[in-house]
Amino acid sequence: MKSLGLGSRTKIMKINISKKVKKVPPSGIRAFFDLVLGMDDVISLGVGEPDFVSPWNVCEAAIHSIENGLTSYTSNKGMIELRQAISEDLRERYKITYHPDSEILITVGVSEALDLALRAILDPGDTVLIPEPCYVSYHPLSELAGGKAVYVPTTLKTNFKLTPQILKKHIGPKVRAIIFNYPSNPTGTSYSKKELLALSKIFLKHKIAVISDEIYGELTYDNPHVPFPTLPGVKDLTIYLNGFSKVHAMTGWRIGYACGPRHVIEAMEKIHQYSIMCAPIAGQIAGIEAVKNSANAVRDMKREYFLRREFLVSRLNHLGLDCRKPEGAFYVFPSIKKTGLTDLEFSRRLLEKENVAVVPGSAFGPSGKGHIRMAYASSMIKLKEAMLRIERFCRK
Ligand SMILES: Cc1ncc(COP(=O)(O)O)c(C=O)c1O
Repeated sequence: MKSLGLGSRTKIMKINISKKVKKVPPSGIRAFFDLVLGMDDVISLGVGEPDFVSPWNVCEAAIHSIENGLTSYTSNKGMIELRQAISEDLRERYKITYHPDSEILITVGVSEALDLALRAILDPGDTVLIPEPCYVSYHPLSELAGGKAVYVPTTLKTNFKLTPQILKKHIGPKVRAIIFNYPSNPTGTSYSKKELLALSKIFLKHKIAVISDEIYGELTYDNPHVPFPTLPGVKDLTIYLNGFSKVHAMTGWRIGYACGPRHVIEAMEKIHQYSIMCAPIAGQIAGIEAVKNSANAVRDMKREYFLRREFLVSRLNHLGLDCRKPEGAFYVFPSIKKTGLTDLEFSRRLLEKENVAVVPGSAFGPSGKGHIRMAYASSMIKLKEAMLRIERFCRK
């Protein structure tokens, strides 16, 4: 046996990473924001996170609960008071009924709800349709759940909306589910009831489960939001996802929820109870307060987003960067094609020359090429300064 004397080299053992994980590319947003880290005086319109602090009554409810010693696990499904509050809220606002005992699951943000929904319903090789440009998690989460993620391209011609014509081209025997998101991250696009009805008929005909991510549902500025499960006949095929991160400015509390047919929620809970146990109790208590008593705060934030949207859309178009008015969320998705730069070049140079961070559209799927995503979850002062810098950059 050889002795391991000073200077001899021991072989370094490396833990193997699964092929499934190796296949997943790093997030385009993350790669870009690594560049931002460490830079001074950057105005970031990149992160999709409200600049508002969570409403004070929401924070206070959680503080009081901690003072009163509520620091334990909760039921796996989430606190019954929160499930009841959500159930009542959905019934009052949208006339949808989900039973708080069996049809609602409280999760760690919509992120966990998405993961659970996909893992609960997919078998290896099942196809998941993903209209893009889309939220960056949809493709990797579908693949990690064993599915085959298939992008469904949408373009500016249809205002980045999925239409029956586009959808029909992608229907096949293995299509099991679609991840549908409106108002959309990154385009802000939303749908009218008529448009949703036309799509729902195709989902029903082909028995395609709809994972409906409506996290920006209350942030629509021109027309009321129509939740997918309110359409005729589709409730049994829909897993409705929502949460508190965006509308209530509660990203850090990590509370979301899934509503759906009893057997689907049961299957999701099975995974959740082993992997997560329960969402954090302080977040759930904050969530109860948010559902019951934050309508005024939400209305005030929404008014501010509306003003910012009007400002950005008008300034961008004035500059010659074509920008349609998005119906909801807090993103604009202007075309930068006229500058002659790619979206990656535009974003990188804008950051280097003017210290303004935006996200290249191609981070959200191939159809995002030639666009950038700008989040208007930043103060008007910052948006005005950012637009001055972008103007100077484009003039040069
Ligand atoms: C469309 C969409 N879905 C889900 C999420 C995740 O939200 P949560 O903070 O609830 O996990 C985001 C966050 O940016 C999002 O934009």
